[in-house]
Amino acid sequence: MGEVQTIGVVGSGQMGGGIAQIAATSGIGAIAFDVHQTSLDKCRKLHEKLMGRAVEKERMTRDEADAALGRITYTANFDDLAGADWIIEAAVEDMKLKGELFAQLAGMFDKREDVVLATNTSSISITEIATAADKGAAGAGSRVVGMHFFNPVPVMKLVEVIRGLQTSDDVVNRTVALAERMGKVPLRANDRAGFVSNRVLMPMINEAFYAWMEGVAEPEAIDGIMKLGCAHPMGPLRLADFIGLDTCVHIMDVLAEGLNNERYRACPKLKQLVMAGRLGDKSGHGVFEYGK
Ligand SMILES: NC(=O)c1ccc[n+]([C@@H]2O[C@H](COP(=O)([O-])OP(=O)(O)OC[C@H]3O[C@@H](n4cnc5c(N)ncnc54)[C@H](O)[C@@H]3O)[C@@H](O)[C@H]2O)c1
Repeated sequence: MGEVQTIGVVGSGQMGGGIAQIAATSGIGAIAFDVHQTSLDKCRKLHEKLMGRAVEKERMTRDEADAALGRITYTANFDDLAGADWIIEAAVEDMKLKGELFAQLAGMFDKREDVVLATNTSSISITEIATAADKGAAGAGSRVVGMHFFNPVPVMKLVEVIRGLQTSDDVVNRTVALAERMGKVPLRANDRAGFVSNRVLMPMINEAFYAWMEGVAEPEAIDGIMKLGCAHPMGPLRLADFIGLDTCVHIMDVLAEGLNNERYRACPKLKQLVMAGRLGDKSGHGVFEYGK
């Protein structure tokens, strides 16, 4: 089993684009696949812009940037993923969609048992995704692993490596090695709802909404207290806007269901803002307002 040559990245949005970029800058080929040509075009433009900026700031030479850009291919043809020897899926957070994708990927790589099928899901059970892969090809679930990158991918150092019930030791070890090769710090977790990151972070954010709802303090004060008193780089309410308030509700629902505990239910204040279309940065208004 040789060194990974080409990573097939499924989904070229915010996360998939970043994953393809760091693969390329680490000397690994990337096949960026997306069902939407607009996402691929946007992704390619962003790569060119970010590499251009890195050259201006003398973090890489023009030759290095061109070589990295040359390692990425962009495609809307699913079959092109067969040219990869490792998959990282970063399509939208939807179990039905991921289930179908993993069954298809398992079928594609049925005869190539060294190809790992990783997912960047932030909340869906790795075990459930592995079970979907098993439906595509018996035994493929042992090659499914969580490879949870953080946003923005080129900046954030962590990769949470999550093992599902079926994931083999060898796959976990190879995932740790690949994350290191991509310049990241891999830390291992088991497959429970929210893994470690969202299980610890999201209830804190939810609690900040309760504090606001109950009139304990206004949002500026809640965030200021957490920044200045607890050394958080960003207050919990500002962070919620950055993540997306709808995403926060979704993750709280996953925690409540997966951990079977009502204490993880989303705060009514958070749900109310989502109902009003205040989703955070992406809608220009969440807890705070953002200029257009
Ligand atoms: N945004 C974050 O902060 C963050 C952090 C960690 C993990 N994640 C996870 O990463 C994944 C992607 O999130 P994102 O923020 O990049 O979303 P995004 O909406 O920016 O990108 C998703 C992309 O998937 C594409 N897509 C939809 N269906 C597809 C299919 N069948 N095949 C291939 N591509 C398809 C869309 O066209 C879109 O370009 C999700 O599972 C999310 O939970 C997100």
